[in-house]
Amino acid sequence: MIEFGVFKNEDALDAEWLPKNLPYRETQHHQIAACIKPLLEGRNGRNCLISGAPGIGKTAAVKLILKELEEHPDVNAPDIAVLYVNCWQKNTTYKIFMELCEQLGYKFVLNKNKEDLFRIIKNLVNKRSAVFAFDEVDKVVECDFLYNIYTDILKKSILLVTNTPQWYDTIDSRIRSRLLPQKIEFKPYNESEIQGILKERIKWAFIEGAWDDKALSKVFEATAKSKDVRIGLHLLREAGLVAEENK
Ligand SMILES: Nc1ncnc2c1ncn2[C@@H]1O[C@H](COP(=O)(O)OP(=O)(O)O)[C@@H](O)[C@H]1O
Ligand SMILES: [Mg+2]
Repeated sequence: MIEFGVFKNEDALDAEWLPKNLPYRETQHHQIAACIKPLLEGRNGRNCLISGAPGIGKTAAVKLILKELEEHPDVNAPDIAVLYVNCWQKNTTYKIFMELCEQLGYKFVLNKNKEDLFRIIKNLVNKRSAVFAFDEVDKVVECDFLYNIYTDILKKSILLVTNTPQWYDTIDSRIRSRLLPQKIEFKPYNESEIQGILKERIKWAFIEGAWDDKALSKVFEATAKSKDVRIGLHLLREAGLVAEENK
């Protein structure tokens, strides 16, 4: 099916690789942007709860919005700190505050407890506005950080990303009744959307003509069954590697 040297840019098959745009997610992109928009006007932002199954573009959609904010700041808008935490890796309030301090460029975190760390975050962020994105947020073991951020940060948008929207109903009602996030749902892609996404990715990752239709339809089929784009990317890379080994 494939000849030696099939990859043009193998990194583009990495699930973390961020495409320049996300077809089929324009509505969600618009909804997330609308939550952040008040910050650009110097007002307090809104919060949102982004949910949907694994591998359907939630992280990519959030990261694209954050990237746009960082790379194309509105010259008339206030200065906005852009903060992203993967809560699977940082699942306690202390670890989350350590991570936020690091992202805010504060280095003297040694021997500080979570109250000290939050005081620093508050001082740094309240001079500006901030977007906080907490990805895989259902993995946190406590929600104090949300309470602190909600009550003590003046101008912010909090984006919560989870595979299971039911998670939100399990958190402390005092936090729930404050955050009141807008719910943004990501529905699984249909077969033709999955094909569109993988075809685009193939253009980035493989040299032209590397794939024949028969092999490709097998990948599309398996990905459609799993409804997870990540599976499709994995299959594309594996096929490429096998092809190079068998050259
Ligand atoms: N609409 C899309 N267009 C292009 N790539 C997409 C799209 N949706 C998902 N992907 C890609 O699929 C992979 C999994 O998406 P991700 O955002 O990590 O899923 P989730 O966070 O929902 O588990 C990523 O590599 C992402 O770039
Ligand atoms: Mg994700």
